[in-house]
Amino acid sequence: METHFKMHLSWAREQDAKDPLKDFRKEYLFPQHNGRDVLYFTGNSLGLQPKGVQAAIDQELQDWATLGVEGHFEAQHPWFSYHEDFAPLIAPIVGAKEKEVVVMNQLTVNMHLLLISFYRPAGKRKKILFEYKPFPSDHYAFESQAKLHGYTTEEVLVEMQPREGEIQIKTEDIIAKIHELGDELATVCFGGVNYYTGQWFDMKAITVAAHEVGATCGFDLAHAAGNVPVQLHDWNIDFACWCSYKYLNSGPGGVSGAFVHERHHHNKALMRLAGWWGHNAETRFLMQPGFDPMPSAEAWQLSNAPVLSMAAHRAALELFQKTTMQHLRTKSLLLSDYLIFVIREIEKKTGQAMEIISPIDHANRGCQVSVRVKGRNKQLVKDLAREGVIVDWREPDTIRLAPVPMYNSFEDVYRFGEVIIPLLS
Ligand SMILES: Cc1ncc(COP(=O)(O)O)c(C=O)c1O
Repeated sequence: METHFKMHLSWAREQDAKDPLKDFRKEYLFPQHNGRDVLYFTGNSLGLQPKGVQAAIDQELQDWATLGVEGHFEAQHPWFSYHEDFAPLIAPIVGAKEKEVVVMNQLTVNMHLLLISFYRPAGKRKKILFEYKPFPSDHYAFESQAKLHGYTTEEVLVEMQPREGEIQIKTEDIIAKIHELGDELATVCFGGVNYYTGQWFDMKAITVAAHEVGATCGFDLAHAAGNVPVQLHDWNIDFACWCSYKYLNSGPGGVSGAFVHERHHHNKALMRLAGWWGHNAETRFLMQPGFDPMPSAEAWQLSNAPVLSMAAHRAALELFQKTTMQHLRTKSLLLSDYLIFVIREIEKKTGQAMEIISPIDHANRGCQVSVRVKGRNKQLVKDLAREGVIVDWREPDTIRLAPVPMYNSFEDVYRFGEVIIPLLS
């Protein structure tokens, strides 16, 4: 961690002036509080609206109004091939080849579609290993997949526990657990970054271990996509899915994405729930029965593109095209290190115990810093909101803060400290 940090507004402003990504902030709409931008730290929950989104959606509405069905071919971005534009936009963000990604549905829907293909229990190999306290939707997906295959949840679900008294999970323990489960393990499915602690798991090491015992390996990247520089292709991950409304800033309930490693694309025997938009594009419009999957992640696509929500996604991803995940990561680490410094200053100045439950080391986290504010309750978040500071609360005493490199500033982080100190004193 850098040691030169200062709890001074002038220092924070100097960093902002030097920040090569500073102009991106102007591309986003900040909710207002007493005539100024709120201090927004919930980009891990819902990213801010890029200013270009309105025009992107308006364009589709206008094309629909003026062209009707002809918009499929005549719209500025023809709807017929609309989905194809997204592969080059999203692939570099998740470290994939273009043919390995597809934008479709919502996250949990995609998780199910991928589990249908990659969770194929047989004989004694039927267990799913997942992280301690996964996002509940993943848990429900695993439960229902177990039942779908005729098992009880007890027979299938294995929740990777941290060590006694710890909240983060050690990679060596995950690997040992995978080896212990051995040929009983069908699939490993972790969050890339855990939604609560912000722990970024060693996705590569987990995948290697899963493959060593003959299991498939996938990730829910809701908190990783656009946050940490994942390399889905190079890490040989089988499948992954993510949402677009957090770090990808594509709007509430925005369209999701999915990754399937190219190793699986030509396996026609792989079970897929099929729809017409996954059928071979050459013969799709012959409208014949007999599903012939596309030789790409598009084979998992069921339906034609939801153009209105994808228009928001397009505008949001075009901003990512103007930078790289590496540049965002460099700022993200500086900004979150500064936040960790500010939290320690708050603790010193107020005497309030603030336990950072996110990993401190860079290799194991993204920009989210989760802090237990001991003895406090949800009133703290309401008090902060009254002062124009938006953070989120997780029971029993945790606030999650995500200084997002795209639009947060060092001044935001400094001001968080300035506002919370009197509230805790
Ligand atoms: C880690 C994680 N998984 C799954 C979901 C559910 O996403 P969706 O409602 O898009 O299916 C969320 C939503 O916040 C999440 O954070």
